[in-house]
Amino acid sequence: MSVLVDRHDAVAVVTIDRQEALNALNVETLTELRDRLHELADDESARAVVLTGAGERAFVAGADIKYMAGLGPDEAKEWGGLGHEAARLLEEMPKPTIAAINGFALGGGCELALGCDLRYASSNARLGQPEIDLGIVPGWGGTQRLARVCGLGVAKELILTGRPVDAEEALRIGLVNAIADPVLEHALGVAGKLAGKSPGALRVAKGLLNLSPGALELEAEEFGDLFASEDAKEGLAAFAEKRPPRFLGR
Ligand code: HXC
Repeated sequence: MSVLVDRHDAVAVVTIDRQEALNALNVETLTELRDRLHELADDESARAVVLTGAGERAFVAGADIKYMAGLGPDEAKEWGGLGHEAARLLEEMPKPTIAAINGFALGGGCELALGCDLRYASSNARLGQPEIDLGIVPGWGGTQRLARVCGLGVAKELILTGRPVDAEEALRIGLVNAIADPVLEHALGVAGKLAGKSPGALRVAKGLLNLSPGALELEAEEFGDLFASEDAKEGLAAFAEKRPPRFLGR
């Protein structure tokens, strides 16, 4: 089991625990996460959900790059779809969701955090969308949600350059709501307060706030198509081989 659910009164804490890979998500872990979120969405006794990563170093260091290195376009679309389901559950479940970002939140990790209603970061957190340096693009909602949360200008800079930001910069650009240590304790405090509010009013407020347009389906499609390129194969293989990629433009 690499996804644990603990209860703190009416607050559910979901912890992703795959520390040997800085909590990067493989199929098994992401499927478990999707399933646990599905259960919590339907569970009226859970009034708020906190998502975090196990250990001191990472929230989630992204989708598992070594797994993705072997994917063709159709499999990559399915993989994109699975992460979209998890992020959509965080975004749309009828109760508040909070990311307690305790270290690296890169690629798919940042995208899961962006699916949450609120984001708090530890002072050692690093967030970003480094997919461009793998020859691919964000595939779990980042192209849409980063722009919605931080504005189009910031989203373009971070997604096109792949540059990660530290906690201070994340706060300045609105990517996180606050910096707090220990971050889980802070997130639990906020979640506890939200759990005492009217669930019906929270559900309606969240639903209304989410009524902004996006192109999430198109993102999943384009993400998968990139896996037919030599550059994606090169970028993903270079990570496992611990060398810089050589992109040839095809
Ligand atoms: C697979 C990963 C991983 C990842 C880290 N690891 N991130 N494995 N997928 N995303 C593994 C490393 O290979 C290593 O295992 C172990 O975790 C510790 O990582 P190190 O690199 O040794 O640690 P450090 O030098 O401290 O560097 C930390 C790091 C770096 C900066 C976070 O690991 C890194 O750059 N990781 C990749 C981040 C990334 O690009 N994420 C986006 C992925 S794309 P071994 O066994 O080798 O020692 C993505 C797409 C989402 O998320 C959409 C999909 C549809």
